[in-house]
Amino acid sequence: MMNQIHKTNAFENILVNKAQGSWFWDINENKYLDLTSGMWCCNLGHNHPEIIQAIKNQLDKIIHKNTRFLTPTTLEAAKSILNFFSNDYDKITLLNSGSEAMEFAIGFARKATKQLDILSLKDSYLGAYGLSKESSYTSQKASKLKIPYPICNSTQCKCLEEYDSLINHIIENYASKLACFVLEPIMVSGGIIKPCSNFISKLCKMLQEVGVLIIVDEITTGFGRAGKKFGYECFGIKPDIIVLGKSLGNGYPVSSIITYEYVESKISPNNMYYAQSHQLDPLGAAAALSVIDVFKNDRIIEKSQDKIKNFNNFFETLSHPCIQDIRSYGMIFGIQFQPYANFSTKELILNLKNNLLKEGIMIGISLGKDLIRLLPPLNISEKEIEFFKQKIVKILNSID
Ligand SMILES: Cc1ncc(COP(=O)(O)O)c(C=O)c1O
Repeated sequence: MMNQIHKTNAFENILVNKAQGSWFWDINENKYLDLTSGMWCCNLGHNHPEIIQAIKNQLDKIIHKNTRFLTPTTLEAAKSILNFFSNDYDKITLLNSGSEAMEFAIGFARKATKQLDILSLKDSYLGAYGLSKESSYTSQKASKLKIPYPICNSTQCKCLEEYDSLINHIIENYASKLACFVLEPIMVSGGIIKPCSNFISKLCKMLQEVGVLIIVDEITTGFGRAGKKFGYECFGIKPDIIVLGKSLGNGYPVSSIITYEYVESKISPNNMYYAQSHQLDPLGAAAALSVIDVFKNDRIIEKSQDKIKNFNNFFETLSHPCIQDIRSYGMIFGIQFQPYANFSTKELILNLKNNLLKEGIMIGISLGKDLIRLLPPLNISEKEIEFFKQKIVKILNSID
């Protein structure tokens, strides 16, 4: 049966049947602790009961409509998402995938500025196709607009001494043709890397001064994933456009573009047209509305801080000669491996992934970046964290 599916991925030999909270079950009732929150989408855990109920309620009313109509749920979700931000964003639309929303955002910035070029950091991942892919590290297409950046967490950062000239170079040589700078606040696919905040805030400020729009891709870093409500808060910047996806629907495919009236007003009304069959559909809106309610009512982000500390305290003690580095930003953790004994990095990572699966734990891996990646649900329990700690220590100790 599996052979009939296009081999777009290295599929595991497990058929997933159901999920709840931090766990999913296969067809044989084996259960797995999901430390990837699906595809980094279920910040509130799988099948959150309130979100499922909201989707069921909406299913009984209407799931889809002609793009010429709006629904009360869509309007309510739009208001609630905008209010979730501390900045006064006042324009929004809802689409389906993160990649689609990124394409929309970049197209929107191009129309608003009447410029075509797109600046990004060289290790960011912004989408699966189109312009966002071209600006990502996954595209083969070379571009001088995919720029290097400093990495630093120091309060006495000296990054600007070295990188000021790059900022000036961008402003002098590229800015006049730039529509936007697209920032992924923490580059998760690209290796779990946070660029220096001084560099990012200065670059954004100078670009905004000359009319370049700042688009922040919060598809993965949003909704508490980076330890704050949104990843851009790490940089003290005020983005012109924000893109949400993944956890906006907690597993249901809905994405969003958020911006200001002043940005939209630069686009002539007859150039605003966008039609896609499922934009602003009520089912996605119902999921998003309920996600925001759960975040607010259950104080998910505040409560996740202790869990983040718990993981970090553990990682400070975790050591093995095969571990090269451990990186963590909020509830995003990466363990970087290096060759050890007779094992290559790839063998170590694949063995760890397979052995953890046998023990009932699902982790993410990036062979290209020598990393295992953990993006657990923000409401993972202390007991579930303990379960992971015991299993990973046991497996690392067995490597020789
Ligand atoms: C930062 C970022 N941007 C964009 C995307 C694309 O979103 P989607 O896979 O929903 O199209 C992803 C997906 O992993 C992502 O991590």
